[in-house]
Amino acid sequence: MNIQAILSDKISAAMLAAGAPEGSDALVRQSAKAQFGDYQANGVMGAAKKMGIPPRQLAEQIVSHLDLEGIATKVEIAGPGFINIFLEPTWIAEHTEKALVCPRLGVAPVKQETIVIDYSAPNVAKQMHVGHLRSTIIGDAAARTQEFIGHKVIRANHVGDWGTQFGMLIAYLEKVQNEDASDMALADLEEFYREAKKHYDQDEEFALRARGYVVKLQSGDEYCRKMWRKLVDITMQQNQETYRRLNVTLTEDDVMGESLYNSMLPGIVADLKAKGLAVESEGATVVFLDEFKNKEGEPMGVIVQKKDGGFLYTTTDIACAKYRYETLHADRSLYYIDSRQHQHLMQAWTIVRKAGYIPETMVLEHHMFGMMLGKDGKPFKTRSGGTVRLSDLLDEAIERAQNLIRTKNPDMTEDELVNVANVVGIGAVKYADLSKNRTTDYIFDWDNMLAFEGNTAPYMQYAYTRVASIFKKANVTESDLTLPISLQDPREIALATRLMQFEETILTVAREGTPHVMCAYLYELAGLFSGFYEHCPILSAENEEQRQSRLKLALLTQKTLKTGLETLGIETVERM
Ligand code: ARG
Repeated sequence: MNIQAILSDKISAAMLAAGAPEGSDALVRQSAKAQFGDYQANGVMGAAKKMGIPPRQLAEQIVSHLDLEGIATKVEIAGPGFINIFLEPTWIAEHTEKALVCPRLGVAPVKQETIVIDYSAPNVAKQMHVGHLRSTIIGDAAARTQEFIGHKVIRANHVGDWGTQFGMLIAYLEKVQNEDASDMALADLEEFYREAKKHYDQDEEFALRARGYVVKLQSGDEYCRKMWRKLVDITMQQNQETYRRLNVTLTEDDVMGESLYNSMLPGIVADLKAKGLAVESEGATVVFLDEFKNKEGEPMGVIVQKKDGGFLYTTTDIACAKYRYETLHADRSLYYIDSRQHQHLMQAWTIVRKAGYIPETMVLEHHMFGMMLGKDGKPFKTRSGGTVRLSDLLDEAIERAQNLIRTKNPDMTEDELVNVANVVGIGAVKYADLSKNRTTDYIFDWDNMLAFEGNTAPYMQYAYTRVASIFKKANVTESDLTLPISLQDPREIALATRLMQFEETILTVAREGTPHVMCAYLYELAGLFSGFYEHCPILSAENEEQRQSRLKLALLTQKTLKTGLETLGIETVERM
């Protein structure tokens, strides 16, 4: 049920009937304060201005045309011309009932689009580090959310699997293979990369061989291809293990690395030249863009092909957008990449649009995010100043969760403890990231994310177990609940109304790519449930009707918490 959409339709119709110009937006929003009702329409002032009449006068006309019979108990005009709407509890009750029995909590599927979600994107022969963590976590929540509301999602893991560094990596792989037949050296990719670089910088002969391999690899030499493949496979196997631990939905099939676009690049450069967009400049091929200025205030030059013939990250992203339209038939392509790459993307897309590689209707959006910072406000590092490895970070999260859960549940079996600690530890890391507005930098703080109070994963997961335990105590299952929901107490009404706002919440999250909005919703829902549970006895209700009605509210709360957390990629347990 989408209350916001229902009210918008009704009020927009009344606005038209009252003579407001076609296309006037009723601007229906959830009210911030109970005294302003459940929803308010803020669009009257704007429309009145266009019509040149006093807003309150227009508001009165709109209200006289507004038919909210059975939906609202009261409609009020407030202040300069707001329309406040107070919802009818029996209407809410009726829909709460429906949500309980409908699949997907009654959320209606949207008109399906194909959405490509570009996320995670680690680099080959490098350990995934915390910088990739935000993209992986937020991108995966986005993918789950878009899928939940009915879109076709294509996950695209734009792995950094191409570039001149592969000459040096192949040369080094060859060296270690000659010295030791096992592939142990690749167990630690960070170390492997460092050693390769060291040899490249210090050993003239090695560097020469490495440069030769770059050329050979690019021309499709079989030996170099095989060595390259090995580097890619080993890296992706390790990353796949991280995805599994993180409960992230990416699979091997989602890898669409930079190398995928290689064959398109010469054609794109030639085409940009033919279209007069790219020109030769000091031996390189460059697109000058008026939209971006350099320090001197002149149009910025974006290199699409280097002097030595090599292509660049930007050229690849131009091809990538084209491919997502032509081959994947995407209606939208969403990129979960940190904000430092914003200019890069905007330049690539400006060229894509100018060259007409995708239709105007296709949406390209950069859902960017800030950096992950340590408690000291500086980029998140290990105590010795190195980059934090994702696998170490996850180990620590689980260990900390385990200590916490053990103290709280001294008699939990070891098996259960391990499982719960895993769900809570991983959940905490993910939720901490998801619950913050992604556009800002975010401070990584163990104590905050593992707290049982506040907007954290442990709190949400614990709230879920509390609701679930009510059913155990009541010794009933869903099918035993045959009597209707009836909302009497203000806390019942508040809880049910919030439950009915799940659909509009998830649509906002999907539209804006803002998982923190879902976190805030679930957190508030858990709080409303607490208030309800304290003041509205369930097991000792006054009569069977009230008992069943309240059990149904608890059940829908339980389902909503679980489903909401699932769309974020956060798991739940039955007790903790
Ligand atoms: N591999 C890149 C990095 O680690 C991120 C790639 C993001 N996606 C893209 N289409 N450019 O910075």
